[in-house]
Amino acid sequence: MESNKSRGNFTGKLGFVLAAAGSAVGLGNIWRFPYLAAKDGGGLFIFCYIILALTFGFALLTTEIAIGRKTAQSPLTAYGVIHPKWKGLGVLASLVPVIILPYYGAIGGWVLKYLVIFLTGKGADAVEDSYFTSFISEQTSPVIFMVIFMVIGAVIVFGGVDGGIERASKFIMPLLLVLIIGIAVYALTISHTDGSGVDRSGLDGLKIYLLPNFEGVTLKQFFVVIMDALGQLFFSISVAMGIMVAYGSYVKKDVNLMQSINQIELFDTVVALLAGLMIVPAVYVFMGTEGMSGGPGLMFISLPKIFHAMGKVGTVIGVLFFVMVSFAAVTSVVSIMEAIVSGLVDKFHLSRKKSAAIVTAYGLIGGTIVCFGYNHLYFELKLPNGTTGQLLDVMDYISNNCLMPLVALLTCILIGWVVKPKTVIDEVTLGGYKFGRRHLYIAMITVIAPVLLFLLLLQSFGILHS
Ligand code: ALA
Repeated sequence: MESNKSRGNFTGKLGFVLAAAGSAVGLGNIWRFPYLAAKDGGGLFIFCYIILALTFGFALLTTEIAIGRKTAQSPLTAYGVIHPKWKGLGVLASLVPVIILPYYGAIGGWVLKYLVIFLTGKGADAVEDSYFTSFISEQTSPVIFMVIFMVIGAVIVFGGVDGGIERASKFIMPLLLVLIIGIAVYALTISHTDGSGVDRSGLDGLKIYLLPNFEGVTLKQFFVVIMDALGQLFFSISVAMGIMVAYGSYVKKDVNLMQSINQIELFDTVVALLAGLMIVPAVYVFMGTEGMSGGPGLMFISLPKIFHAMGKVGTVIGVLFFVMVSFAAVTSVVSIMEAIVSGLVDKFHLSRKKSAAIVTAYGLIGGTIVCFGYNHLYFELKLPNGTTGQLLDVMDYISNNCLMPLVALLTCILIGWVVKPKTVIDEVTLGGYKFGRRHLYIAMITVIAPVLLFLLLLQSFGILHS
């Protein structure tokens, strides 16, 4: 079960950590985390998220990376190596990136479109409420931007594990960090007086964002916040979508896994917090608490208004912001593609180039269909969790709300009860490295995580109403 040279490897720990952080840090952190944090009352959501990241997230991330490295196999084939009767879990886990890729590509295209708007000085156009909806309903423009985004990701995947993915992440991730810190610090310095004379500063917004307010929170609301934070964690740390198994399979045996995992988690959580830090206080300053319920439209509808209200500097901030989001989204789409590519290489013994070509063609066709979900293929469907959605939302619901918790639950059962946590612990401690939080890991993977995942599934299926 040694790493197979022909599959490719990360050159060392830094390459692995930056590639995995590149995967983890994506639209989930910058688009999804801030709107959930804003919706769920800021500090309370952050409090739950951090606790869950350190416990639940840590256990799942460790498990998947260890499965990957132990087997040196793609998600499609790794579970069968862990236990021959559990091959089906590999198929299920590989289905998740297959569903996510087309719609991640479509959203990545939207981000590129907004980058172009701000680069060409047309940010004012995006201020209208209807701008976003009319753009995504157009027939060709969203498809063109999706194609550009998908092709950028494909070029990196074609470059291979070290020559493409690692090299791109080593260049992009430090830049991303500098940009996000810069914009977050700037967001805290702004202040605004609204039409009724109310003065709000970035620091006021910061308090709303960071301080948990437990006052008047009912048990039911608290449950919703925990489930939101839990769902967000999956997406954010790229677990239950095959990615971390694939990336783990490219890690050399002498790398200290636990240290790498801590760094990946820290990177991902810090970027999510910073993304909230640059968005939530700014939204509060210009739109008050009402603006904070912007939901998924927060990035594409509310932020352009805020950049516009900032005046000239807003155009520059807008450009930097969407450059940063594009960076984050590209390194993530690369990992979603790689999770599928690695399966084709390992299971069907196709060359990397052939596999990458197949996945790219699939992504482009699937992405086009998702874009058509806002015009030719428009429909509205009521989902079991109470929301109503179009094609993209339905795909997001199937992957995020149903398959991912299911894959994670089955992974916990396989590792916690069938092959036992020692399988993972042995891999992590290979070479004499320490496994910090070992008892916590065992408790999480055997009991606590499965219970939380089960509740999440019940909520997704509408059995447990939130
Ligand atoms: N983890 C990736 C994201 O947050 C998929 O977007």
